[in-house]
Amino acid sequence: MNGPTVHHVTLTVTDVQRSAEWYQLLLGPAALVERQGPTWERIRMQWPWGLVIGVTRHDATPASSFDCTQPGFDHLGLACATEMDVRRWKERLDELGLEHGPLETHSYGWAVTARDPDGIAIEFFSPTAVAPPGPVIAGVGVVSIRSVPEDRSMLRSPSIYEDWGEMAPEAMTVRQERWLVELTADGATDPVGDLSARAKWNGPTPGSRAYNIGISILADFRGRGIGAVAQRLLADELHDRGVVRVEASTDVGNVAEQRALRKAGFELEGVLRSAQARRDGIHDLQLWSHVVPRPE
Ligand SMILES: CC(C)(COP(=O)(O)OP(=O)(O)OC[C@H]1O[C@@H](n2cnc3c(N)ncnc32)[C@H](O)[C@@H]1OP(=O)(O)O)[C@@H](O)C(=O)NCCC(=O)NCCS
Repeated sequence: MNGPTVHHVTLTVTDVQRSAEWYQLLLGPAALVERQGPTWERIRMQWPWGLVIGVTRHDATPASSFDCTQPGFDHLGLACATEMDVRRWKERLDELGLEHGPLETHSYGWAVTARDPDGIAIEFFSPTAVAPPGPVIAGVGVVSIRSVPEDRSMLRSPSIYEDWGEMAPEAMTVRQERWLVELTADGATDPVGDLSARAKWNGPTPGSRAYNIGISILADFRGRGIGAVAQRLLADELHDRGVVRVEASTDVGNVAEQRALRKAGFELEGVLRSAQARRDGIHDLQLWSHVVPRPE
């Protein structure tokens, strides 16, 4: 026998029509089933992705608003895949002019809470197990990134994913911005890696300029969370400059970078086939992005 999961939740409300409209305004149109009993009426809403919420009014339901301090129900948590999705729902609440709380960051995930017409708390929650990487990594130090001239020599440890072989002279002419990744620990600040970013035009308009970033962390400092933090810091710095789309591409086999990008809040978009030639042959790349949500 498998353990059950939640199939649906039915909320007691004071006006089923008003509530059904509110939930559909927020979540989109649902398939509706209306039912009535001798002392109650209910609208069951089912959205295309499987979410089922019912709203019921009992004749005995008082006109007062919901009170989460009473036994029975505190709030409804709606699962979002990533922190970015929680941020998008926050944007949507803003667009709809619906009041909501701040983006909450917990050690166990991200949340934004709104209240339905009866004051029932509806929380958009991403159960991602890690907090967005702040610059402080417990037991490691504080990560920062510092802009450096393009021609500054790069810090390099060997990596099969950067074993290029013969370089193409034209590729060397593409302008790159560079940052040093630094770690401050025990009062000392040391360089521990390199970041780069180059503009990538997806069209001729100013808004079509994305940035593709690259990273290398010195071998002794890998696997401590520094790569995730550094890429998050760079994505935020580029967004602060007005860049909407920050991309990173990495070998389909580079699990360390894929994990680091996910922790940094990037999302996987797909695979670029036969995209990169290195000394040992041609490789597929994964394309990841960190994008500022746009108004729907
Ligand atoms: C990829 C790279 C930038 C990541 O930086 P980092 O500081 O090591 O990254 P983090 O510590 O933040 O995250 C690495 C994650 O990969 C995991 N990892 C490391 N090696 C792994 C491996 N061989 N297989 C699976 N997971 C691995 C780590 O455990 C960690 O995940 P977790 O925190 O969920 O446990 C760094 O490893 C590096 O410089 N590699 C060589 C150059 C390179 O590949 N650059 C990217 C080219 S696109």
